[in-house]
Amino acid sequence: MAKMWMGRTDGVTDKLCDDFNSSISFDRKMYRQDITGSMAHAAMLGARGIVTEEESETLIGGLQGILDDLESGTLIIDPNAEDIHMFVEQVLTERLGEVGKKLHTARSRNDQVALDLRMYLRDETDEIVRLLKDLLFVLQEKAEQHKCDVMPGYTHLQRAQPVTLGHHLMAYAMMFVRDVERFLDARKRMNVSPIGCCALAGTTYDTDRFFEANQLGFGDVCKNSLDGVSDRDFVAEFSANSALAMTHLSRFCEELILWSGWEFRFVELSDAFTTGSSIMPQKKNPDMAELIRGKTGRVYGDLMGILTVLKGLPLAYNKDMQEDKEGVFDAADTVKKCLTVFTPMLKTAVFNVVNMKKAASKGFINATDLADYLVRKGLPFRTAYKVSGGLVKKCITENKTLDTLTIDEYKAVEKLIDEDVYEAIDLSTCVKKRISYGGTAPENVEKQIQFIKEFIK
Ligand code: ARG
Repeated sequence: MAKMWMGRTDGVTDKLCDDFNSSISFDRKMYRQDITGSMAHAAMLGARGIVTEEESETLIGGLQGILDDLESGTLIIDPNAEDIHMFVEQVLTERLGEVGKKLHTARSRNDQVALDLRMYLRDETDEIVRLLKDLLFVLQEKAEQHKCDVMPGYTHLQRAQPVTLGHHLMAYAMMFVRDVERFLDARKRMNVSPIGCCALAGTTYDTDRFFEANQLGFGDVCKNSLDGVSDRDFVAEFSANSALAMTHLSRFCEELILWSGWEFRFVELSDAFTTGSSIMPQKKNPDMAELIRGKTGRVYGDLMGILTVLKGLPLAYNKDMQEDKEGVFDAADTVKKCLTVFTPMLKTAVFNVVNMKKAASKGFINATDLADYLVRKGLPFRTAYKVSGGLVKKCITENKTLDTLTIDEYKAVEKLIDEDVYEAIDLSTCVKKRISYGGTAPENVEKQIQFIKEFIK
């Protein structure tokens, strides 16, 4: 196929080379950004008298026509085109004739592709933030519902201290808040326009980069043209933020998987978000949660991919950079898909608060509270800790729990212990008393819920 860039070479390439070189199979995703970017460029060319006003309008009209036809399906992207930029320009020239050939004045595909990708990921960022906020909404609803429900809090996956389910859910909410903040923070650096950097060195035409940036909603323009065409930090940042968001989803999924097993029975996932086994009739498998946990791996891979592509690149543009897209598109698509499935899966999940409470009453998770009780009675904490530990040991040997020990059994070990010990080690007391800021007391959890409500407004 004859190339638009023939001249220095005869433009006749081997079929193998065409396939290998082509990026249309994936950069076609950016057709909207490519066309709107070109429209801003055409407007700038007109405004600066680089093309006539009439030519500028013709170009903009032609581009709008291509966009409309692509959206309506009357124009199909040619899979044999080299990339989306070439495809659009080619159709434009076919439709407009000579004037179509003027669009590429004072521009290069190097600044064009950087522009398209920034605009594409800016839209993806906004969509991911929206999905994260949907999840936060469900989380605060669930936390409100369960802010007094006691469950075991774990360290080392050993029952440690009682917490409320609301508190546990709010812990995840805080992670997703940070994800939103990270995506929005990265968006600031992404939202800087490279168009007008041209191939690498800028241009001899009297262009107005600020005009273009303004038209396309950018907050600033890249200050150095070499950097403008070779910077892909925004891809790496987006991928890193995606990887971390996946980490959070994955940890949450891991707990939902554990909790839905017979060993825990803390949660019942809706039938709509589980699958059966082809052989074992009793199975209800948390496949969606497992897939999200699994897909975390590929998003980590996407991050490693872009970092590795960039690490040895000399300035400015190198064709290696075409490898920046598939990974980050995959990261964006995966995060979006996972959030889209995770949120309704959580919304429809039913927590088994009876089993959680039951689990909390075993495992001596009120032993710290017993020690704290003894401190209030006058013992130094280290001594109180020992007494409490001794009582736990006694319970284990005699197959008892702290709340079933009689007052005489208590007194035999430590005479400072009175009848009020039972109230002190009652699980709901343990939870209510954790009043330190950020702690598990329902009033603290309520504050966290209010924070989330404000945050998603
Ligand atoms: N398809 C290319 C990419 O994704 C567009 C830029 C091509 N620039 C060039 N100098 N060959 O990176």
